[in-house]
Amino acid sequence: MPNNTKILPLDLKNVSHSINGMRYIKDITLQLGTNVNTMILGPNGAGKSLFLRICHGLITPSQGEVKFLGPSGAQPKKYQAMVFQKPVMLQRSVIGNMEFALKSQKIPKNRMVSIIEETLEATGLSRLAKVSARELSTGEQQRLAIGRAWSLKPEILFLDEPTANLDPAATHVVEKIINEIKKSGTTIVMATHDLGQAKRLADNILFLYRGRVLENSSVETFFSGPKNDLAQSFLRGELLWWHRQKLKPPSELRNH
Ligand SMILES: Nc1ncnc2c1ncn2[C@@H]1O[C@H](COP(=O)(O)OP(=O)(O)OP(=O)(O)O)[C@@H](O)[C@H]1O
Ligand SMILES: [Mg+2]
Repeated sequence: MPNNTKILPLDLKNVSHSINGMRYIKDITLQLGTNVNTMILGPNGAGKSLFLRICHGLITPSQGEVKFLGPSGAQPKKYQAMVFQKPVMLQRSVIGNMEFALKSQKIPKNRMVSIIEETLEATGLSRLAKVSARELSTGEQQRLAIGRAWSLKPEILFLDEPTANLDPAATHVVEKIINEIKKSGTTIVMATHDLGQAKRLADNILFLYRGRVLENSSVETFFSGPKNDLAQSFLRGELLWWHRQKLKPPSELRNH
Protein backbone atom coordinates (compact mmCIF):
# COMPACT_ATOMS: atom_id res chain seq x y z
CA MET A 1 0.00 0.00 0.00
CA PRO A 2 1.62 3.38 -0.96
CA ASN A 3 2.44 5.63 2.04
CA ASN A 4 0.12 8.46 1.12
CA THR A 5 -2.94 6.23 0.75
CA LYS A 6 -5.94 7.43 2.72
CA ILE A 7 -8.78 5.08 1.78
CA LEU A 8 -7.66 2.86 -1.12
CA PRO A 9 -7.70 0.05 -2.01
CA LEU A 10 -11.44 -0.57 -2.30
CA ASP A 11 -12.31 -4.17 -1.64
CA LEU A 12 -15.51 -5.82 -2.89
CA LYS A 13 -16.35 -9.31 -1.67
CA ASN A 14 -19.19 -11.34 -3.19
CA VAL A 15 -21.24 -8.23 -3.86
CA SER A 16 -24.74 -8.76 -5.26
CA HIS A 17 -27.61 -6.33 -5.49
CA SER A 18 -31.29 -6.94 -6.13
CA ILE A 19 -34.10 -4.49 -6.79
CA ASN A 20 -37.68 -5.74 -6.56
CA GLY A 21 -36.49 -9.30 -6.55
CA MET A 22 -34.32 -8.93 -9.68
CA ARG A 23 -30.57 -9.42 -9.25
CA TYR A 24 -28.79 -6.67 -11.19
CA ILE A 25 -25.30 -7.06 -9.68
CA LYS A 26 -24.08 -10.62 -9.33
CA ASP A 27 -21.37 -11.87 -7.03
CA ILE A 28 -18.63 -9.34 -7.74
CA THR A 29 -15.30 -9.83 -5.96
CA LEU A 30 -12.42 -7.51 -6.85
CA GLN A 31 -10.12 -4.77 -5.60
CA LEU A 32 -9.67 -1.27 -6.97
CA GLY A 33 -6.13 -0.20 -6.17
CA THR A 34 -4.25 3.09 -5.92
CA ASN A 35 -3.31 4.64 -9.28
CA VAL A 36 -4.87 1.84 -11.27
CA ASN A 37 -7.30 3.65 -13.54
CA THR A 38 -10.20 1.41 -14.41
CA MET A 39 -12.63 1.76 -17.29
CA ILE A 40 -15.91 -0.14 -17.03
CA LEU A 41 -17.32 -1.42 -20.30
CA GLY A 42 -20.55 -3.26 -21.03
CA PRO A 43 -23.83 -2.90 -22.91
CA ASN A 44 -26.74 -0.73 -21.75
CA GLY A 45 -28.25 -2.13 -18.57
CA ALA A 46 -25.16 -4.23 -17.72
CA GLY A 47 -24.96 -2.65 -14.26
CA LYS A 48 -22.16 -0.09 -14.75
CA SER A 49 -23.98 2.77 -13.01
CA LEU A 50 -25.20 0.51 -10.19
CA PHE A 51 -21.66 -0.80 -9.71
CA LEU A 52 -20.26 2.76 -9.47
CA ARG A 53 -22.96 3.79 -6.98
CA ILE A 54 -22.23 0.75 -4.85
CA CYS A 55 -18.47 1.52 -4.89
CA HIS A 56 -19.15 5.16 -3.98
CA GLY A 57 -21.30 4.05 -1.05
CA LEU A 58 -24.58 5.50 -2.32
CA ILE A 59 -26.17 2.06 -2.46
CA THR A 60 -25.67 -0.62 0.15
CA PRO A 61 -25.63 -3.91 -1.71
CA SER A 62 -28.14 -6.60 -0.76
CA GLN A 63 -25.29 -9.05 -0.23
CA GLY A 64 -21.54 -8.97 0.26
CA GLU A 65 -19.07 -6.40 1.55
CA VAL A 66 -17.69 -3.13 0.19
CA LYS A 67 -14.79 -1.77 2.21
CA PHE A 68 -12.08 0.82 1.77
CA LEU A 69 -9.02 -0.80 3.33
CA GLY A 70 -6.78 2.30 3.72
CA PRO A 71 -6.10 4.00 7.10
CA SER A 72 -9.08 6.39 6.74
CA GLY A 73 -11.21 3.73 5.09
CA ALA A 74 -13.87 3.87 7.78
CA GLN A 75 -14.62 7.54 6.87
CA PRO A 76 -14.18 7.56 3.11
CA LYS A 77 -16.58 10.41 2.26
CA LYS A 78 -13.99 13.20 2.23
CA TYR A 79 -11.61 11.30 -0.07
CA GLN A 80 -13.91 10.23 -2.87
CA ALA A 81 -16.20 11.94 -5.36
CA MET A 82 -18.58 10.90 -8.11
CA VAL A 83 -19.88 12.48 -11.30
CA PHE A 84 -23.23 11.08 -12.38
CA GLN A 85 -24.46 10.15 -15.83
CA LYS A 86 -27.01 12.99 -15.46
CA PRO A 87 -25.12 15.85 -13.77
CA VAL A 88 -26.66 17.22 -10.58
CA MET A 89 -26.56 21.03 -10.48
CA LEU A 90 -27.57 23.21 -7.54
CA GLN A 91 -29.82 26.17 -8.29
CA ARG A 92 -26.91 28.57 -8.09
CA SER A 93 -24.40 30.14 -10.44
CA VAL A 94 -21.48 28.14 -11.82
CA ILE A 95 -19.23 29.76 -9.19
CA GLY A 96 -21.90 29.09 -6.54
CA ASN A 97 -21.85 25.38 -7.39
CA MET A 98 -18.08 25.30 -7.05
CA GLU A 99 -18.15 27.26 -3.76
CA PHE A 100 -20.74 24.95 -2.25
CA ALA A 101 -18.60 21.88 -2.95
CA LEU A 102 -15.41 23.49 -1.66
CA LYS A 103 -17.10 24.85 1.49
CA SER A 104 -18.24 21.35 2.32
CA GLN A 105 -14.54 20.42 2.41
CA LYS A 106 -13.74 23.46 4.59
CA ILE A 107 -11.36 25.00 2.03
CA PRO A 108 -10.35 28.54 3.18
CA LYS A 109 -11.92 31.41 1.22
CA ASN A 110 -8.68 32.75 -0.34
CA ARG A 111 -7.68 29.30 -1.64
CA MET A 112 -11.21 28.76 -2.86
CA VAL A 113 -11.00 31.74 -5.23
CA SER A 114 -7.85 30.49 -6.94
CA ILE A 115 -9.09 26.87 -7.13
CA ILE A 116 -12.34 28.03 -8.76
CA GLU A 117 -10.50 30.22 -11.25
CA GLU A 118 -8.16 27.40 -12.17
CA THR A 119 -10.96 24.83 -12.51
CA LEU A 120 -13.20 27.04 -14.67
CA GLU A 121 -10.23 27.82 -16.88
CA ALA A 122 -9.37 24.12 -17.27
CA THR A 123 -12.97 23.17 -18.09
CA GLY A 124 -13.48 26.13 -20.46
CA LEU A 125 -16.26 27.61 -18.33
CA SER A 126 -14.69 30.92 -17.22
CA ARG A 127 -16.98 33.03 -19.39
CA LEU A 128 -20.02 31.32 -17.86
CA ALA A 129 -18.92 31.76 -14.24
CA LYS A 130 -21.93 33.88 -13.25
CA VAL A 131 -24.57 32.00 -15.24
CA SER A 132 -27.08 29.83 -13.38
CA ALA A 133 -25.68 26.29 -13.56
CA ARG A 134 -29.08 24.82 -14.47
CA GLU A 135 -29.16 27.01 -17.57
CA LEU A 136 -25.95 25.49 -18.94
CA SER A 137 -26.12 23.01 -21.79
CA THR A 138 -25.86 19.33 -20.82
CA GLY A 139 -22.25 19.17 -22.00
CA GLU A 140 -21.34 22.31 -20.05
CA GLN A 141 -23.03 20.89 -16.95
CA GLN A 142 -21.03 17.72 -17.38
CA ARG A 143 -17.79 19.73 -17.59
CA LEU A 144 -18.76 21.70 -14.48
CA ALA A 145 -19.61 18.49 -12.61
CA ILE A 146 -16.17 17.04 -13.46
CA GLY A 147 -14.39 20.28 -12.52
CA ARG A 148 -16.33 20.49 -9.27
CA ALA A 149 -15.44 16.91 -8.34
CA TRP A 150 -11.80 17.40 -9.34
CA SER A 151 -11.44 20.58 -7.25
CA LEU A 152 -12.07 18.44 -4.16
CA LYS A 153 -8.84 16.51 -4.93
CA PRO A 154 -10.33 13.11 -4.11
CA GLU A 155 -8.17 10.02 -3.82
CA ILE A 156 -10.65 8.18 -6.03
CA LEU A 157 -13.06 9.67 -8.53
CA PHE A 158 -15.99 7.73 -9.97
CA LEU A 159 -17.13 8.99 -13.37
CA ASP A 160 -20.28 7.68 -15.03
CA GLU A 161 -20.02 8.23 -18.79
CA PRO A 162 -18.61 11.73 -18.42
CA THR A 163 -18.40 12.37 -22.16
CA ALA A 164 -21.70 10.80 -23.25
CA ASN A 165 -23.25 14.16 -24.18
CA LEU A 166 -20.17 15.98 -25.34
CA ASP A 167 -19.14 17.12 -28.81
CA PRO A 168 -15.76 15.87 -30.09
CA ALA A 169 -13.89 19.01 -28.99
CA ALA A 170 -15.41 18.93 -25.52
CA THR A 171 -14.67 15.19 -25.28
CA HIS A 172 -11.04 15.97 -26.04
CA VAL A 173 -11.03 18.68 -23.35
CA VAL A 174 -12.56 16.32 -20.80
CA GLU A 175 -10.04 13.59 -21.61
CA LYS A 176 -7.28 16.16 -21.08
CA ILE A 177 -8.81 17.06 -17.72
CA ILE A 178 -9.07 13.38 -16.79
CA ASN A 179 -5.39 12.97 -17.64
CA GLU A 180 -4.55 15.96 -15.42
CA ILE A 181 -6.64 14.42 -12.64
CA LYS A 182 -4.73 11.14 -13.04
CA LYS A 183 -1.40 12.98 -12.96
CA SER A 184 -2.38 14.73 -9.74
CA GLY A 185 -2.61 11.29 -8.13
CA THR A 186 -6.36 10.70 -8.19
CA THR A 187 -7.44 7.21 -9.20
CA ILE A 188 -10.18 7.15 -11.85
CA VAL A 189 -12.92 4.54 -12.08
CA MET A 190 -15.13 5.33 -15.03
CA ALA A 191 -17.92 3.87 -17.15
CA THR A 192 -17.73 4.58 -20.86
CA HIS A 193 -19.17 3.37 -24.15
CA ASP A 194 -16.27 4.81 -26.09
CA LEU A 195 -13.77 2.03 -26.74
CA GLY A 196 -11.09 4.40 -28.04
CA GLN A 197 -11.44 6.46 -24.90
CA ALA A 198 -11.17 3.35 -22.72
CA LYS A 199 -7.97 2.42 -24.54
CA ARG A 200 -6.56 5.93 -24.06
CA LEU A 201 -7.41 6.34 -20.39
CA ALA A 202 -7.38 2.88 -18.80
CA ASP A 203 -4.80 0.81 -17.02
CA ASN A 204 -7.40 -1.82 -16.35
CA ILE A 205 -10.70 -2.84 -17.95
CA LEU A 206 -13.74 -4.33 -16.24
CA PHE A 207 -16.25 -5.84 -18.63
CA LEU A 208 -19.73 -6.14 -17.14
CA TYR A 209 -22.54 -8.15 -18.64
CA ARG A 210 -25.91 -8.65 -16.95
CA GLY A 211 -24.45 -7.68 -13.60
CA ARG A 212 -21.42 -9.96 -13.74
CA VAL A 213 -17.78 -9.06 -14.21
CA LEU A 214 -16.85 -11.29 -17.13
CA GLU A 215 -13.40 -9.81 -17.67
CA ASN A 216 -11.04 -7.94 -15.35
CA SER A 217 -7.75 -7.43 -17.14
CA SER A 218 -5.08 -4.98 -18.13
CA VAL A 219 -5.96 -2.67 -21.01
CA GLU A 220 -3.35 -4.36 -23.22
CA THR A 221 -4.73 -7.84 -22.56
CA PHE A 222 -8.33 -6.76 -23.04
CA PHE A 223 -7.81 -5.03 -26.37
CA SER A 224 -5.45 -7.65 -27.72
CA GLY A 225 -8.21 -10.24 -27.31
CA PRO A 226 -10.30 -10.78 -24.19
CA LYS A 227 -10.65 -14.38 -23.00
CA ASN A 228 -14.38 -14.12 -22.57
CA ASP A 229 -16.57 -14.81 -25.65
CA LEU A 230 -19.11 -12.12 -24.77
CA ALA A 231 -16.35 -9.56 -24.28
CA GLN A 232 -15.01 -10.51 -27.72
CA SER A 233 -18.48 -10.03 -29.25
CA PHE A 234 -18.78 -6.70 -27.45
CA LEU A 235 -15.50 -5.50 -28.95
CA ARG A 236 -16.69 -6.52 -32.39
CA GLY A 237 -19.82 -4.43 -31.81
CA GLU A 238 -22.08 -7.47 -31.78
CA LEU A 239 -23.17 -7.61 -28.17
CA LEU A 240 -26.16 -5.35 -28.08
CA TRP A 241 -29.30 -5.08 -26.03
CA TRP A 242 -31.34 -7.69 -27.89
CA HIS A 243 -29.03 -10.40 -26.54
CA ARG A 244 -30.55 -9.66 -23.13
CA GLN A 245 -33.93 -10.96 -24.15
CA LYS A 246 -32.87 -13.32 -26.92
CA LEU A 247 -34.83 -11.18 -29.37
CA LYS A 248 -34.12 -10.77 -33.02
CA PRO A 249 -32.47 -7.43 -33.71
CA PRO A 250 -34.63 -4.85 -35.48
CA SER A 251 -34.28 -5.22 -39.26
CA GLU A 252 -32.33 -1.98 -39.69
CA LEU A 253 -29.69 -3.27 -37.28
CA ARG A 254 -29.42 -6.85 -38.55
CA ASN A 255 -26.04 -6.25 -40.14
CA HIS A 256 -24.41 -5.01 -36.95
N1 LIG B 1 -33.70 2.03 -9.08
C1 LIG B 1 -33.87 1.01 -9.91
N2 LIG B 1 -35.05 0.34 -9.96
C2 LIG B 1 -35.24 -0.70 -10.80
N3 LIG B 1 -34.28 -1.16 -11.64
C3 LIG B 1 -33.10 -0.53 -11.64
C4 LIG B 1 -32.82 0.58 -10.78
N4 LIG B 1 -31.55 1.00 -11.01
C5 LIG B 1 -31.07 0.18 -11.96
N5 LIG B 1 -31.99 -0.74 -12.34
C6 LIG B 1 -31.80 -1.79 -13.34
O1 LIG B 1 -30.52 -2.33 -13.20
C7 LIG B 1 -29.95 -2.64 -14.46
C8 LIG B 1 -28.57 -2.01 -14.57
O2 LIG B 1 -28.73 -0.60 -14.63
P1 LIG B 1 -27.51 0.40 -14.79
O3 LIG B 1 -28.07 1.77 -14.78
O4 LIG B 1 -26.48 0.07 -13.77
O5 LIG B 1 -26.97 -0.02 -16.24
P2 LIG B 1 -25.75 0.63 -17.08
O6 LIG B 1 -24.79 -0.48 -17.36
O7 LIG B 1 -25.24 1.82 -16.37
O8 LIG B 1 -26.47 1.03 -18.44
P3 LIG B 1 -26.24 2.32 -19.42
O9 LIG B 1 -25.13 1.93 -20.34
O10 LIG B 1 -27.54 2.42 -20.15
O11 LIG B 1 -25.96 3.52 -18.57
C9 LIG B 1 -30.91 -2.10 -15.53
O12 LIG B 1 -31.61 -3.19 -16.10
C10 LIG B 1 -31.86 -1.21 -14.76
O13 LIG B 1 -33.17 -1.29 -15.26
MG1 LIG C 1 -25.24 3.83 -16.76
